[in-house]
Amino acid sequence: VTVRSTNITAVGHAVTREARTARNGHKGGVLWFTGLSGAGKSTLALALERELFAKGYLVYVLDGDNVRGGLNKDLGFGPEARAENIRRIGEVAALFADAGFLVISSFISPYRADRERAKEAAGAAFHEIYVKASLEACEDRDPKGLYRRARQGEIAEFTGISSPYEPPEAAELVVPTDELPVEECLGMLMRYVGERFQNT
Ligand code: PPS
Repeated sequence: VTVRSTNITAVGHAVTREARTARNGHKGGVLWFTGLSGAGKSTLALALERELFAKGYLVYVLDGDNVRGGLNKDLGFGPEARAENIRRIGEVAALFADAGFLVISSFISPYRADRERAKEAAGAAFHEIYVKASLEACEDRDPKGLYRRARQGEIAEFTGISSPYEPPEAAELVVPTDELPVEECLGMLMRYVGERFQNT
C-alpha cells in the first residue's frame, strides 16, 4: 500500500486504556477468527457476541455482512483484494480494541501474511482463533451452496477449491467445529474470554 498521508502526528488520548478497562470491567482486544467458508465462524461469532453482551461486555462482531457490504464493498476475492480487505479490518479492529471493545472479527483471512499484519495493528490485544473444520466437512455442510457452485466453475478463486487457505501455525485457540458440537465450541470460547479479558 502506498502511504500518501504525510505530516501526521498521532493525538494522545486523555482517557487511558486502564481507565477504560476499570470502568468496563474487562480489557479490550481482538478475537481474530480465521477458517474456511462454512467452518462456523459466523455462527460462533454471533453466539459468542450474544453471550458476552448478556454478561455486560462491550462486544462487537465484524464480519462479511457488515464490512463487505459497506467499508469494503469495492473489494473482490483476488489475493490483493483479500489483503486489502484484511488490512482495513485489522485497522478497524485495532481501533475498536483501543476504545475498549472486545472485537470478534470473523473473516476467512486465508493468508498468513495478512493475519500477521492485522496482529501488528492490534499488538498484544490480538488473539488468533482457528475455527477449524476440514474442507470435506465444510463442503458437506455447504450452507450457501457456494462449494457446489465453485466446483462447477461458477465462482472463481473460491477458498479451499481454487484459492489457498493457509492454516494458522500457532493459534492461541483452536476450535474444532467438525469434532465438537456448537455448544462445546462456544464453551471453549467463553472460558478463553473469561480467563484473558476479565479485569480481575
Ligand atoms: S477473505 O478471504 O477473508 O477476504 O473473505 P471474507 O471477507 O471473509 O468473505 C468470505 C465470504 O464471501 C463469500 N465469498 C467467497 N469466499 C471465498 N472465496 C470466494 N471466491 C468467495 N466469493 C464469495 C462467502 O460467502 C464467504 O462467507 P463465509 O461466511 O466465510 O462462508
